[in-house]
Amino acid sequence: MKSAGGARRLLVRDLAQLATPAGSGTPLRGRSLGEVEVLEDAYVLCEGDSIAAVGRMRELKPLDGDLEELDGGGLCAIPGLVDCHTHACFAGDRVEEFALRAGGATYEELHAAGGGIMATVRATRAAGAATLTQAVRRHRTWMLRAGTTTFESKSGYGLDRETELASLRAIRDTEGVATWLGAHAVPPEFGDADAYLDFALAEVLPAAAEVAEAADVFLEQGAFDAEQARRYLTACAAAGLTLRLHGDQFTELGAVALAIELAARSIDHLEATGEAGVAALARSDVAAVLLPASALFLGRPMPPARALVDAGAIVALATDFNPGSAFCESLPLVCSLAATQLKLSPAEALAACTVNAAHVLGRSGRIGRLVPGYAADIVLLDAPDWRYLAYHLGGDLVAKVLLLGVPAELR
Ligand code: NIG
Ligand code: FE
Repeated sequence: MKSAGGARRLLVRDLAQLATPAGSGTPLRGRSLGEVEVLEDAYVLCEGDSIAAVGRMRELKPLDGDLEELDGGGLCAIPGLVDCHTHACFAGDRVEEFALRAGGATYEELHAAGGGIMATVRATRAAGAATLTQAVRRHRTWMLRAGTTTFESKSGYGLDRETELASLRAIRDTEGVATWLGAHAVPPEFGDADAYLDFALAEVLPAAAEVAEAADVFLEQGAFDAEQARRYLTACAAAGLTLRLHGDQFTELGAVALAIELAARSIDHLEATGEAGVAALARSDVAAVLLPASALFLGRPMPPARALVDAGAIVALATDFNPGSAFCESLPLVCSLAATQLKLSPAEALAACTVNAAHVLGRSGRIGRLVPGYAADIVLLDAPDWRYLAYHLGGDLVAKVLLLGVPAELR
């Protein structure tokens, strides 16, 4: 079905509601994070891979020419969700460790005993490139079923040249946004973190920078300290990569100050961030990416979300999907946690995992809103009110997903 101009047209009609972050600014801060525009009895018209128009049914002008129609009765449309922080490229699982943690073992103890991240590194190194691509594809399908239409994924479970590069290619070839997490842990074949960084920056960075858009580092006790993180990120910036950090997950070790000093795009986690860190982030352009599913999964304190939003920081939400600290691919569940644990409104949660997450990925001019000219990435919720996104805890909410104007296979 083509329009006169040649592009296929699809009308999603009779929607109970259409909800999209209001305005056109990005990123959204403070009060504007909670401003969502809601249209009742609405439609979305897609032309090719983009949104051509949105509005109320009663204002819909007669459309000439070829047109496909999709009945949106009883459904609510929101922008396709954007997961700006996952670790979706891994082999194996950590279900044994999960059971041990349920019995009282801590994440840090398992990590110190050679399990944790290193357990997944062993499985990922053994997997081979084709298996890794299959794994990312499988995880991407899980995400899509939960309404995620754009995902970022880090490498970081290879930590050798071959597996890191195979991971980044697997992510890119699965249409993910690839981030080189070359500084996730120090693999056992290196004596210390500095020796590992000598290798990673000389041998892996040049090729990683061809595939990845960003670089990330785990700044934490037992991983990399602030000096090592500075060295890694400075080299990555010089290679053209956007900078991101895992910071303040368990301890405050100067990650916020470093992120601001290096003009990083984001600092992610922040469960341990105190008042000074909140104030500094609010004055900066570094986005705070909050991962409440990870705090929940590890039984850790929640990040200071309310304080960050109220102080005016750029706040985004993501799953942190990974086999160890957050085996959860659902942004709707994250929105429920945002409302119940972080005290964000459903509107703030929606903006944080659409427009602001798109900003973190450098794509806020094209995804994260339902407005003309944006990508026709649309989630149809099986709900009479779009706020079920946060309200229906763990619910089977996603009725349909349009990816660039085309209904996606969810099963
Ligand atoms: O973001 N904290 C570091 N990295 C991941 C967890 C990785 C893992 O446990 O496999 C995170 O939580
Ligand atoms: Fe993470």
